[in-house]
Amino acid sequence: MSISIPRGTQDILPGEVEKWQLIENKARELCQRYQYHEIRTPIFEHTELFLRGVGDTTDIVQKEMYTFIDKGDRSLTLRPEGTASTVRAFVEKKLFGLPSQPVKLFYMGPMFRYERPQAGRFRQFVQFGVEALGSDDPAIDAEVISLAMNLYKEVGLERLKLVINSLGDKESRNAHREALVNHFRPRIGEFCSDCQGRLEKNPLRILDCKKDRDHELMKMAPSIIDYLNEYSRNYFEKLQYYLGLLDIPFEVDPNLVRGLDYYNHTAFEIMSDAEGFGAITTLCGGGRYNGLTEEIGGPETPGIGFALSIERMLAAIEAEGVQLGVAQGIDCFLVALGDAAKDYTVGLLQQLRNAGLSAERDYLNRKVKAQFKAADRLNAKYVAVLGDEELSNNKITVKKMETGDQVEIGLDSFVSYLLEGQK
Ligand code: HAM
Repeated sequence: MSISIPRGTQDILPGEVEKWQLIENKARELCQRYQYHEIRTPIFEHTELFLRGVGDTTDIVQKEMYTFIDKGDRSLTLRPEGTASTVRAFVEKKLFGLPSQPVKLFYMGPMFRYERPQAGRFRQFVQFGVEALGSDDPAIDAEVISLAMNLYKEVGLERLKLVINSLGDKESRNAHREALVNHFRPRIGEFCSDCQGRLEKNPLRILDCKKDRDHELMKMAPSIIDYLNEYSRNYFEKLQYYLGLLDIPFEVDPNLVRGLDYYNHTAFEIMSDAEGFGAITTLCGGGRYNGLTEEIGGPETPGIGFALSIERMLAAIEAEGVQLGVAQGIDCFLVALGDAAKDYTVGLLQQLRNAGLSAERDYLNRKVKAQFKAADRLNAKYVAVLGDEELSNNKITVKKMETGDQVEIGLDSFVSYLLEGQK
């Protein structure tokens, strides 16, 4: 029996991987413009980090973690997201002491969640995320949102919807929490067991329940917006003002509750409203997490960030029919006739490659016609033909495939001829 790929994971093969590279390059380049710097953290962490960081009432912690005991009897977990690890590194490596503040970081890499696989939902997926630590200026909330929006725009997506909400500060959230508990408690028996468990621990998450979303109490639930204190309200208004300045359209959805425990003030999601996108339309999620750094043992530090998966971005690209400008083709294919010429192309190929050109030759001892076919398949800009006789005369024939023009040139000037053609 052959061995197959684990459920919810993907092989990304040549032909497809170029799209990933293009998106990854764009993300890196955008981070450079916005001055976010890359951080690479381990793929696994102590389980405790996610219990504290992501929150032990979340679906991620309760149902979705890949947790294992290692040979040293430690409980480790494959990271389900990047924020907790980034904040752990920020605390452990004392980045709060860096002269340049706020500390603006980005990451890109695989995350793992034991979810039910379906379109847009994988067990291993790649998140690109940014985290800005050390500022509670709503302008940085707007910056983080604009970075995500710009990445989508720069790959050519248009059918985007930005939804924002404020979850307020501690005082606002406590007042709202109490109102929610009072609202749901008398009829909590009519809700699913998950919601019953959430009532005392995290009543906000009841609003996020998929099973009970049509219950009449859901629609009448107290809205956080009505419980924001003055600071929180002003903060939220300032964010909206800045988004306006940046020409970023948005909707306020008081029911937007993110699935992780660490959020306060700003919460946002970017969705695709492209037809045929499928059930899961959230492309990107993020928000503010003041308090998380203290939770992980560091000094009081405000923070905000987002994460998006490349998988969902590619699904949106497909749904909108966007053509990514993926570079194709090679600079030159060497066709050789005769044994001496074949041997000679081994070194010649190396010369081309050392000069920075992409080049290929035949390795299957093919006839000339088949070699030309191979060159065609690789979409070669030039095909250079070398026979034993030409070799003895120090000559090579170069054909520019686009025009069909053919010239015979000296072997000594071959590399510079091709380089000239690059200009
Ligand atoms: P999240 O909402 O759990 O937030 O995930 C963010 C994004 O990761 C989602 O919007 C989606 O694009 C992608 N994603 C999540 N699960 C899957 C999956 N199973 N398959 C494919 N894509 C998936 C976080 O992870 C937070 N750490 C975001 C954040 C950063 N908040 C502040 N800073």
